[in-house]
Order: sequence, then C-alpha cells, then structure tokens
Amino acid sequence: MTRLLLPILTAILVLPPALLSAQAEVVSSTSGMVVSTSGIASDIGAAILSKGGNAIDAAVATGFALAVTHPSAGNIGGGGFMVIRLADGKATTIDYREKAPLRSTRTMYLGEDGEIDRSLTASGWLAPGVPGTVRGLALAHRRYGKLSWKDVVDPAAQLATNGFPLSEALAASLNGALRRQLGRFPSSVAAYGKAGGGEWNAGDTLRLTDLGRALSAMAADPNAFYTGWIADSLAAQMKANGGIITRKDLAAYRAVERAPVRGTFLGHEIISMPPPSSGGVLLIQTLNMLEQLDVPNRSPGSADYLHLRLETARRAYLDRAKHLGDPDFVKVPVARLTSKAYAATLARAIDLARASSSVALGKGIVTDTGEPKETTHFSVVDAAGNAVANTYTLEGGYGSGVVVRGAGFLLNNEMGDFNKKPGETNTRGDIGTAANLIAPGKRMLSSMTPAIVTRGGKLRLVTGSPGGRTIPNTVINVVLGVAAFGLDARAAVDLPRLHHQWLPDAATFEPGVATDSVMANLRSRGHTILVGGRQGDAHSIVYDASTGTAYGAADRRTPDSKASPGR
Ligand code: DON
Repeated sequence: MTRLLLPILTAILVLPPALLSAQAEVVSSTSGMVVSTSGIASDIGAAILSKGGNAIDAAVATGFALAVTHPSAGNIGGGGFMVIRLADGKATTIDYREKAPLRSTRTMYLGEDGEIDRSLTASGWLAPGVPGTVRGLALAHRRYGKLSWKDVVDPAAQLATNGFPLSEALAASLNGALRRQLGRFPSSVAAYGKAGGGEWNAGDTLRLTDLGRALSAMAADPNAFYTGWIADSLAAQMKANGGIITRKDLAAYRAVERAPVRGTFLGHEIISMPPPSSGGVLLIQTLNMLEQLDVPNRSPGSADYLHLRLETARRAYLDRAKHLGDPDFVKVPVARLTSKAYAATLARAIDLARASSSVALGKGIVTDTGEPKETTHFSVVDAAGNAVANTYTLEGGYGSGVVVRGAGFLLNNEMGDFNKKPGETNTRGDIGTAANLIAPGKRMLSSMTPAIVTRGGKLRLVTGSPGGRTIPNTVINVVLGVAAFGLDARAAVDLPRLHHQWLPDAATFEPGVATDSVMANLRSRGHTILVGGRQGDAHSIVYDASTGTAYGAADRRTPDSKASPGR
C-alpha cells in the first residue's frame, strides 16, 4: 500500500534550491559508514573503521574530530547522548548531558526584578553546565570500543595542532561568531581569531594549538579534563570571572549508561534516548499516535496527514512540558507516556476536521519556539553491523562563547535548557513546571533524539538531528520516511520537515511540505503555519541487513556534510 504513495511523494519531495548543497548522492558500503556535518570528521571516523575499529571507536574519533572542525557545536566543553546498538542486538545509551554546578540555585537566572535575565544564560561564565563529553566518550569507548583510547583521540589532537583548511561555510561562521559572542572574550579571540586580525577566508588554515595540547593530554589520560591541569585551569578561570563551576564539580562528574526507551512502529522497533532527554519519549509517543491514526496510508503532502502530524506533536510536546526532567531527580512516567494505550486515548481525542487549542489542552501553560540553532548529530555503522547514533551540543552556536585559556575549548551554555522561573509558564516561551527546575548536580532537560530503528531484529536506520525543540519532529520525519513510506536514505533525509511544539500555537513548515491549496485547507481547519527556513541536519544511515550494506545520506541542508565509507 505504501508503495502506491511513491509517485505522489516524488512530486512533492522537491527541496528548494536554497536547501541544496554538499553531497547529494547516497554513499553505499559494506565496510561501514560515518555520516556527519563535517567531511573531515567523517573521514577521520571512516579511517578508524578501515583500521579495524568498530562503530564505537569511529564514533568517539568522529566526536573528538568535530570538536576541532565544527566548533559551533562539536565539543569537549558540552555534552550529549549516544545510542549504541551492537550487531548481536544488545542496545544501550550513554548519557553525558551536562549537570548544574553544585553552587547553582533555582533562581540564579532571575534579575532583581524577578524576571529571567536571558543575558546570563546566553553567554559568559555563568551559562555553562559541567561538561560531560569527555567522560561520555571515554565511558562509551571503555565499555564498547576495540582500539586503544589513544588511537581514537590522537587524530583530532593532530588535526587541531597541524591545522586544516577552512571551508567557505566555516570561515563565514567563525567571522560571524567573532563579531558576536566570541568577540566578547579575549581568550576566545585568541583561540579563534585570525593572527594579525581580519576576516577568515575559505582555504585559510585554522590551527588550534591550545586545543591540540588539551586533546593530546586527554589522549594520554582522559582524566586530564576532570582532575588534571585542564580542570585546574577551568576552575581558576571560572573563579576569576564570576563563574561557579569548581574543581569539585569536575571531579564529581560522571557519564551514565542508561537503558534505552523502546517502542514499536509498523513492525519496526524504535530505540532511543530516555530522560534526561525528552527526545526518545516524544518520538515513541508520537509514532504510537500516528500508527493508530492510519498515517502510513495517507499521503505526506495531504492536508489530513499534515493535520495529524501537527495534532500529535501538539499533544506530545504538552506532555514534555508537564512531565519530563532528570530521572535522577524527578519521577518521569516513561512507561505510561510511551504506551500504546495512552497513545490511543490521545489519538481518540483528536478532531480530524479542526485544530485543537493548545491553551485549552494545556490549561493555561504556554511556551515558545526560540531555540538557538546549534548542535550536531552523526551516525555510524561498522562492517559487522554495530551502530551508533550520537547527538551532542554546546546548546547555542559556539555555546557560552567562552574559551578556556590554555586549553582552547569552548564552554557550553546548556544551563539555559532548565526551567528558569519556578511556577511561570508564559507566552514568551518560558516553562516553569517542577520537573525541569534547576538543582545542584541535576541534568537539564534536552530534546536531542539520537535514534536507531530495527526491523525483524535487524538494523534498519540510524538517525538524529540538531535543532533544539524541533529535533524530535525532524527525527519523526526521517523515521516516517523510511518506516511508513518506504523511502530510501536520500529521499527520507530530503523529505521536507515540519514542526509544532504545542505552544506557541503555530507550526513551521519547510518549503515543499504542502501545496498552496493544502496550506489553505490546513488554515481553514484552524492551524497557524509559517513557511520558510530549514529544519535540522539529520545525517542518517539506512542499512540493508540482507547484504550488510550501509547507505549513508548526509543532510544537504548543511554545506560541509559528508558520508564517508569504511574501506
Ligand atoms: O539539548 C537540547 O535539546 C538543546 N540544548 C539542543 C540545542 C540545539 O539543538 C541547537 N541546535 N541546533
């Protein structure tokens, strides 16, 4: 049945020219695949596969390389989530989300007038959570890697020290960041500014000497970051600049291995990230609703399909605001939210003809779409069929803008992902519900959704994306493309995306989601829809287990992305 939809799909799946760049083809290989937003980083990961490393080794090497080549989001000063599925079927996750410093307080981002002071979470020394990336990658490697730690960290250390040529996109990104958040901090200008001043150009060599030294120290001993000279340096600079992360915070940080959240969708199994990310729960809860609403038999360009996408998203995001937070601090009803029975109750209440009111559904709770646009996802499969979906972030592009002098890395501004004003959920986009309030040592709620899909116990899809609260909707789009509409990797990644997050009660559509007449139909049902922009950056791998072939599709929405095959 779903095959009948393909002609309709091909007609509407035309990405506007502005969205097209980078590698347009699907790359196939039976020797594994790495797909990331940076060609240099994908190549480093693929070289680890060719050297005999497994998917986890390649993911760790790619993660460290992105900290060099994609400084707006690739990081060692931030945090993230890794979903691992081994070829024998075992699945697990690594939670390396940042934590609130021990000296943090519930109201630390409120000004004297009692209102949220956004400048405090946007950038600077009070914005970072305690970084988790290095302990996270080290934990993944220690439990599941094959090559030596040095083998997987060294390529990034060498890249930072020797330098690499800037692409046009990275030169422009750095110039912009130096004019804005990096420019406010002398240590950041010293690390990322052009020697002698002036603008970066494509082809210039970017050398990150201090970062190279820090990475080399970590290649010898990952604890250098948490208990060694890097920790000393970070803590001293925090103290001198009014920040609150201490040596004690760093020494106490631990990444955690957690059981994944699991669901089913049209005969596929969905494996994704549990809290403290909201991503996996949103993904499964929404797919459960869509399954019951007969979505695979609806054309993705039709008004009925799009209406159901918006109505299911509205409901899942309301539950996110109500219930989700760090499971080490609050009780999150994961089993109920991801159950088929709960989805049936929600799906039954959807009016097929009319948009529902988010305010009425949420009984007075309100939020907004304003998420900064940086995070990065990469997907890895090795020749044996082990798979890694990894999404990590500094939160905003270039995080807090603060580089730790001498160690050359950027600190995140992840504290802004907490609910900052207890009790107040308002139309300006602030959520004040209890589950995600700040507490010392607590992890802030995320939307990152690294996901692995299997069918009949065999690997089928590895995906994920940046995009703040749009992330679960982007991942849902890719999963629907593959699991409901039978698209190949390229078409599933290209499939135009949409977003609704309950409140504000407005959807955003990429160009190409709907025709003018379908837009008019949706508006007549009561939907507010804005069209434009691009959503996410979902570097994905579709896997054919019958031949052991990985099909890597870099997301053409970003210019430097690449699928690199193992050899
Ligand atoms: O954890 C989260 O959900 C956010 N800090 C992610 C930020 C993000 O994706 C921005 N990027 N495009």
